[in-house]
Amino acid sequence: MNRFEGKVALVSGAASGIGLATAQRLAREGAHVLACDVNAAVLSEEVPRLVEDGLTVTARVVDVTDAAACQAAVAAAVSTFGRLDVLCNVAGTLLIKKFTELTDEEWQRQMAINVNGVFFLCRAAMPHLLESRGNIVNVASSAALIGVPYGAVYSAAKGAVLLLSKALAVEFASAGVRVNAVCPGSVMTPLVAGFMPPEDADSRLLSRLLPLTPEHGQPADIAATIAFIASDESRFMTGAGVVVDGAQTAI
Ligand code: NAI
Repeated sequence: MNRFEGKVALVSGAASGIGLATAQRLAREGAHVLACDVNAAVLSEEVPRLVEDGLTVTARVVDVTDAAACQAAVAAAVSTFGRLDVLCNVAGTLLIKKFTELTDEEWQRQMAINVNGVFFLCRAAMPHLLESRGNIVNVASSAALIGVPYGAVYSAAKGAVLLLSKALAVEFASAGVRVNAVCPGSVMTPLVAGFMPPEDADSRLLSRLLPLTPEHGQPADIAATIAFIASDESRFMTGAGVVVDGAQTAI
């Protein structure tokens, strides 16, 4: 499939996991991708591999908590590739900790990456998406739909991402810009590998975080969903929260 031939996409969180798989998928389907991540070391390992495979991917170090850096990244995508059609906000972080032990700094840091970063990139991209009649795919989580035990700040942040996506979808629908969110369940990435529940965690609560399918998701599963949503095939889809969670939240 070549659904992104001639299109330009900016993907945040593109050094690892779902973001890397998304950058790869969109580029394989013809997009010029600006792959943004705060982790310069991993980005500079991964992006050259994609380029060696013949994909048009450019790496850019961006901390999504920095509004000016987000603005500059969008400007770079437009000046390098001439337009912007797709923004995928994938950068994110997870903190598992008992609620009463959360510090102010931890709360603010989680919100800064998971919520402010999405806001900064959406705001910077919108004028260009209005020109291209493009679209945004924000990565929320099944944590936006159910309360994650020991993950209060993560659920709060991802709930914000889901409703920010819906609000933008409503505001910009008549202008032809689509905005959707994806709500993945458990996907095998470094983020999930670092999931450490408190020692005395209630195992009944933790079991709610597992998919009902025989296997967990893979980054490519979510990238395939993101690619569909970002493509013209889903031109009537906007304001959706697309759940991809192996029935985790269906029960
Ligand atoms: P990951 O840890 O493999 O990748 C996250 C990427 O975001 C990393 O490359 C990291 O460097 C980057 N990042 C972190 N802070 C950043 C910042 N300030 N500026 C720019 N980039 C930054 O994690 P994964 O699993 O691929 O997560 C991607 C998204 O998917 C996140 O938003 C996460 O919350 C969400 N998600 C993941 C699920 C899972 O089971 N893996 C389930 C549901 C949602």
